[in-house]
Amino acid sequence: MNKKIKKILFKKNKTKIVCLTAYSKSMAKILDKFCDIVLVGDSMANVLYGLKNTHTLSLKNIIQHTLSVKKGITKSLLVVDMPKGTYQNVKIAKKNALLLKNLTKCDAVKIESNNKNFQIIKELVKSEIPVMGHIGYTPQFKKKFKIEGATGEKLKKLNKEALKIEKAGAFSVVLECVAPNASKIITKSLKIPTIGIGSSSYCDGQILVTDDMLGLSGFYPKFIKKYVDLNKIITKAVKRYTKDVRNNKFPKKKNFLNVTRIR
Ligand code: KIV
Repeated sequence: MNKKIKKILFKKNKTKIVCLTAYSKSMAKILDKFCDIVLVGDSMANVLYGLKNTHTLSLKNIIQHTLSVKKGITKSLLVVDMPKGTYQNVKIAKKNALLLKNLTKCDAVKIESNNKNFQIIKELVKSEIPVMGHIGYTPQFKKKFKIEGATGEKLKKLNKEALKIEKAGAFSVVLECVAPNASKIITKSLKIPTIGIGSSSYCDGQILVTDDMLGLSGFYPKFIKKYVDLNKIITKAVKRYTKDVRNNKFPKKKNFLNVTRIR
C-alpha cells in the first residue's frame, strides 16, 4: 500500500486529517506545507471556469490542472476527482483512472457515489488505483443542494452506502452536507477515515474548497469559515494599481529595465 495512504489511515481516532483543494502549482505549494491531502476537485468547474455545475468538466481539464498541482506537492497525498461521465462503467472507469494516474502521477482518485458504483471502486482498487469515496450531497448526481441523512431512514441508507464503499476497498470517504448525527454514526461505523465538508466536527478530517475559505469564490454557505477576505484585499490592490497607472506613478524609474539587470 502507498505509504502516504497508510499514514492517512493511521490518523483515524488519533489526529484530525487536514484537506483542501488546489487547481494550480502556486496554491499547491502553500497547501503542501500544512495539508495531509490536497484534492484537485471538480469544483474547479464552478470556481475556476465559472460553470453552473460540474457536469461538463472534462478529463483533459482535470489532467491539465493536476499536472500543475503535482509540481507544487512534495509530501501531501494528491487525490484527483474523476469528472462526471468518466466512470460510468468498470471498463471506462479503469481506462480513465489509469490514464489519470499514469499521466499525472497522482496518488488516488475520488469518485462520487450514486449508491450503485461499488464494483467500479472494487475494480480500480484491484488495479492498484486507490479510491476515495464521496457520499451525501454529490454534485455530479444530485440536483438539490441540501442536508443529507437527516432522518432515521435516510441515515440508515447513507450508513449502508458508506459501509459498501469501505467494503469495496476505498481508503477514505468524503461526507458532504451530511447531518451531524449521521456524520457521527457513519464515522463510528467505518474503519476508514471520513472527511467532512459541511458535515460537522464528528468526521475524522475536514475539507473545504480553498477559494471559499480564502474569500475569493463568492460562495459562502453556513458551513464555510472565511479565514481571510482575499476579494477585498485584491480589490484594494487593483484599485491602487489602476490609480498609479492613470497618474503615471507606475512604473517608476526604479522599475525601468536596463541592459545589465532584469531583477
Ligand atoms: O470538487 C471538490 O472540490 C470536492 C470537495 C468539495 C470535497 O469534491
